Amino acid sequence: MVTIDDIVARLRSCLSEHTPVLAVRDVLQELIADRPRLDEALGPVETGGITTLYNAADLTVLRVAWTPGMALYPHEHRMWAAIAMYGGQEDNAFFRRAPGGLEPTGGTELPAGEVLVLGDDVIHSVANSRREFAVALHVYGGDFFTVQRSEWDAETLEERPRDHERTRRVFEEANARWLEERFRP
Ligand SMILES: [Fe+2]
Repeated sequence: MVTIDDIVARLRSCLSEHTPVLAVRDVLQELIADRPRLDEALGPVETGGITTLYNAADLTVLRVAWTPGMALYPHEHRMWAAIAMYGGQEDNAFFRRAPGGLEPTGGTELPAGEVLVLGDDVIHSVANSRREFAVALHVYGGDFFTVQRSEWDAETLEERPRDHERTRRVFEEANARWLEERFRP
């Protein structure tokens, strides 16, 4: 049996490595290879949302479950990140800053069993196009909740300060939609 404390201790020990994010990637790869053990530690996913497992100035560990049909507008982290999928699939679109907003630079599908490493300057949007929760461990090389950074309106691509309350509402709306939809024939 693995516990959240064990997971955090293993991830924290990566911070003293030469390239922490690569050490984190290896730990995550091993953790997601055994989903039953992870489910035992983290509990089942019943609704979409962000669960904070650990939050410090130099490391944040989240369990994120994207609701089926959900899409989150472009945003940046301004710290390295490693996304380890262990259920469903997350579709990533990447962008770079351009005059008046953003321009797309490509995308990648991240299926369960894979880890995606993102550099400090990455701007991405995320979608779950499947009819199951897209579940992942998200590890960030800093304090995810207090660092100043930007997000962009999904339609106009206008830049604005990151707003966690807005993210929470996107989850809430997606959860309400999914609750209704899943019981339709
Ligand atoms: Fe992100």
